[in-house]
Amino acid sequence: MGKICAVSKTIVKEGKRITVCDETRARLLPVLHEVQGKKGYISDTDMQNIANELGIHPVEVYSVVTFYSFFNLEKKGRHIIRISNCISNIMAGSKNVQREFEKALGIKSGQTTEDGKFTLEAISCIGMCDQAPAIMVDDKLIGKVTSKKVKKILEELS
Ligand code: FES
Repeated sequence: MGKICAVSKTIVKEGKRITVCDETRARLLPVLHEVQGKKGYISDTDMQNIANELGIHPVEVYSVVTFYSFFNLEKKGRHIIRISNCISNIMAGSKNVQREFEKALGIKSGQTTEDGKFTLEAISCIGMCDQAPAIMVDDKLIGKVTSKKVKKILEELS
């Protein structure tokens, strides 16, 4: 079996165009995860440094960081609560869950509490349509969330 290649590029070798694994770009996501894991976000300077290290244009790094909603461009709260607002989740009541979190935290979606403890985000997909309404608290997926469960979820994070 051949090598699995996440990102490929075409090069010309001995007059022939061939497709090869692009190891440089394949390293981009792991590097971004590492930086975010350490700092909680990826700054402009980080993106420039990563681009220099990998030998790619900073715009490529920026486009990847902004494509994935799980990468942060600015400092967020210690806990990030993401509420899925795809149509399945909305039909199942995700807007009520979002309002309950907003009320309990005293912030709107997209904001961070003053104490820096929580960031609340409404995003399009967390891959949990079948468990709607679903949320993601840091790296943990929680399905079938009700307004009543919101307080308990926040207490567990305190
Ligand atoms: S489309 Fe519903 S969670 Fe992804």
